[in-house]
Amino acid sequence: MYELLKTEGRAKRGVLHTVHGDIQTPVFMNVGTAAAIKGAVSTEDLEQIKTQVQLSNTYHLHVRPGDEIVKKMGGLHKFMSWDKPILTDSGGFQVFSLAGLRKIKEEGVTFHSHVDGRKIFMGPEESMQIQSNLGSTIAMAFDECPPALAERDYVMRSVERTTRWLKRCKLEMARLNQLEDTVNPHQLLFGINQGAIYADIRIEHAKQIADMELPGYAVGGLAVGESHEQMYYILEEVVPYLPKNKPTYLMGVGTPANILEAVERGVDFFDCVYPSRNGRHGHVYTNNGKLNLFNKKFELDARPIEEGCGCPACRRYSRAYIRHLLKAKEMLGMRLCVLHNLYFYNTMMEEIRAALDEGRFAEYKKQKLDQMQSDV
Ligand code: GUN
Ligand code: ZN
Repeated sequence: MYELLKTEGRAKRGVLHTVHGDIQTPVFMNVGTAAAIKGAVSTEDLEQIKTQVQLSNTYHLHVRPGDEIVKKMGGLHKFMSWDKPILTDSGGFQVFSLAGLRKIKEEGVTFHSHVDGRKIFMGPEESMQIQSNLGSTIAMAFDECPPALAERDYVMRSVERTTRWLKRCKLEMARLNQLEDTVNPHQLLFGINQGAIYADIRIEHAKQIADMELPGYAVGGLAVGESHEQMYYILEEVVPYLPKNKPTYLMGVGTPANILEAVERGVDFFDCVYPSRNGRHGHVYTNNGKLNLFNKKFELDARPIEEGCGCPACRRYSRAYIRHLLKAKEMLGMRLCVLHNLYFYNTMMEEIRAALDEGRFAEYKKQKLDQMQSDV
């Protein structure tokens, strides 16, 4: 159950109560695609860097180790030794972005596994069954994410199919939650809005899915090649048609600046691979912009990545040392950068929540953007 605690303009400060504990929003979910945050980050680490929700992928876990195995191990929470909320993405998006040679039909999608090339079929029912076996806190609807530049006619037909798929997801999830041996009988299903950059298609779709009374709604199909301005415009147009008293999740977004802009437009759940991916490449976030720790200018730099940062990297190590680890391809180098970046994101979300609590989000946003400048 979601409680809307406070608003400032369209920005929402809320809390989602789940069987795995409360999620304070706005929140950034930390991406662990295959039940692991890349960069050798452990569950214990996550407890130190303010992670509220982990995100995993239906598609990846179905391919390896297999959701039946995860279910036999007691579900994803037990398997990963993480008792806080987990959101699983439905596989829709990953099938379209990763798997080769796919065929889309009304029933679902046939594709080849990126691990061993084996042919796999996934439709709304299969996606719900896999997510039910994983027992995540929040399951995402099985959708099609059309390319940003897809033609209007195609997008229209695709969105209509995504709506039919959502109805099937809802029925199947209700059935699975009733089963006696289900891992998480309280699993929540979030619907996903699509429609590429066509505001009218998205609005019509948003109205239809809002009527289905799901516990949360996502805006999908953004940050897939359109400009930032187009993304902000779509959010301005569409978010008002999604229920305000439910979580609003912008999938796969984004930079710190994208997040601040989207919070202003009413979004309160986020996920993105940027902080972990950038960290693995030695790119670290600071309040004054991003640094590339491979740069020679850090060779003798005794300061932490960010002065005053409370993360496990900054509490102990210098830029010069982390640079050395990265250059020597020591795993610890990547790990420290990933921990710092996730801490940076999670801390920004904490600051956003505090600003909303105190009615000074607009001021906070402006100050944060001015300070960070344009590259974040
Ligand atoms: N992750 C980022 N964008 C999307 C989307 O449109 N659909 C799904 N299922 N996952 C996403
Ligand atoms: Zn730090």
